[in-house]
Amino acid sequence: MFKAVLFDAYGTLLDVDAAAAQLARTGRFPPLQECWPELAAIWRSRQLNYTWLRSLSRSYKPFWEITSDALDYAMAALGLTDTDMREALLHLYRELAPYEDATIALEAVATKGLPAAVLSNGNHEMLHTAFTAAGLMDRLDALLSVEDVGIFKPAPEVYQLGLARYSARPEEILFVSSNGWDACAASQFGFRTIWANRANMPTERLPKPPHHIVRDLTAIGQYL
Ligand code: LAC
Repeated sequence: MFKAVLFDAYGTLLDVDAAAAQLARTGRFPPLQECWPELAAIWRSRQLNYTWLRSLSRSYKPFWEITSDALDYAMAALGLTDTDMREALLHLYRELAPYEDATIALEAVATKGLPAAVLSNGNHEMLHTAFTAAGLMDRLDALLSVEDVGIFKPAPEVYQLGLARYSARPEEILFVSSNGWDACAASQFGFRTIWANRANMPTERLPKPPHHIVRDLTAIGQYL
């Protein structure tokens, strides 16, 4: 029934908290020991806010640059000024660790004989670097990036990239995201959707809910 399974990247296959967590564990930067969870949370929230604001104000720039801007904001908010820390965090973010269940999910899709692809805000270079480092490139049919349409999720043009790639109707695509708003927007576009609610958050009050809600990606095989 499905022609392809599309996965969101950041937060879904790749652990967006991993950069701050890993650097804190090294002990290189003592202030991070306490504040890394807050830093990671502000970094992620600014990063997403900047994508939405830049889409609305028609001022697209690549997600990598937005990620750097968001880190600068987060560090300033917490009074962190160490430029070596900044460089180390960005270096780790380029090669974010995948979640353990990412491989399980991609294997389940392959077992069904379906192509799996990424559909992400990330720009092409950033996605290629991250998924190569994660060792997942051979399990992915394509890395679809908003860079080709110059606007971020949840603009419909982004989800349209999946239809064009697989010559599919919306209901022939299964879309998986751990970002509730992304899953809702993909449902609104017409995809079948799974929300991997990793953080046990309430359902977003948006026009269309996800079709399925799971805790993580381990059991997505049953929806294929
Ligand atoms: C992405 C963001 C939403 O990968 O995490 O598209």
